[in-house]
Amino acid sequence: MMKLETVVVEQHDKVAVVTLNRPDKRNAMSPQLHLDMVEVLEALRDRPDINVVVITGSDPAFCAGMDLKEFFLANREDNTRFEKAYRAAVEWRGRTLRYYPKVTIAMINGDCFGGAFSIVEGADLAIAANEARLGLSEINFKIFPGGSVSKSLANLLRPRDALFYGLTGRPFDGVEAARIGLVNYSVPKAELKQNVMELAAEIGSKDGEALRATKDGYRLSLEMSWEASMDYTLAKQDQLTLRQRGAWQDQGIGNFLDKKYKPGLGSLDS
Ligand code: COA
Repeated sequence: MMKLETVVVEQHDKVAVVTLNRPDKRNAMSPQLHLDMVEVLEALRDRPDINVVVITGSDPAFCAGMDLKEFFLANREDNTRFEKAYRAAVEWRGRTLRYYPKVTIAMINGDCFGGAFSIVEGADLAIAANEARLGLSEINFKIFPGGSVSKSLANLLRPRDALFYGLTGRPFDGVEAARIGLVNYSVPKAELKQNVMELAAEIGSKDGEALRATKDGYRLSLEMSWEASMDYTLAKQDQLTLRQRGAWQDQGIGNFLDKKYKPGLGSLDS
């Protein structure tokens, strides 16, 4: 469907699979990869035929974090170029993903280090292979989780876990990632793709506007007072009704009252 220098996009029904594609460099994020991700996310954001975006890496790695050579060293003497790459790096993982109008799932198929944690945290859901290796390796090369990574850790992990792994730089596996809440769950690598695609298809079959409102309602309410959130979600409900032309009332509730399905047990189509 779309092939850029460092990223490939495929579509399966309402699910887009975005693959970081620098396997020889373990999908480390070069400046070009950041620019490609900005372009891909921009291209997919308004597509009505897509409800879910899965982000993964070309085997064997998910993403080895920032490209230590091309991101940090190549632009060492050129602040303007570095800041351009830095801005793209921080924006797509830290802001674009968080408020993205599609549901996003990080599928951690292999190595996931440093800056890759911000992809995981920016995505709404994350599923890892049991065998994946993850780590906050920054301390091991005499730096700290900078850019958007420190904020991602603060958003997602318990203080003890964030500091333990940040201070030791010890690698851990997908099972441990699930235990500390970095990912939703982990499965054997051999089952990962099928598992995640089934999950994505399940979510993708729901109403796109309702999915978006679910994300916005959660993420934006986190930053609001109770009063602001009540007003926001009421306004959001009116927006949803308008955009869906009342589908949640007419079909959603209507089909329940006509005894066609029980929403407590699944969607009408599931
Ligand atoms: N930046 C730049 N290049 C990287 C990279 C990174 N973050 N991670 C891996 N690569 C490159 C290696 O330099 C090597 O390139 P080469 O073949 O041209 O020499 C290639 O990818 C394969 O890496 P290699 O170390 O041989 O693979 P491995 O499977 O044995 O180990 C890692 C994989 C990820 C454990 C190891 O490469 C590593 O520790 N990378 C750094 C991870 C890191 O600290 N990331 C945080 C950055 S914020």
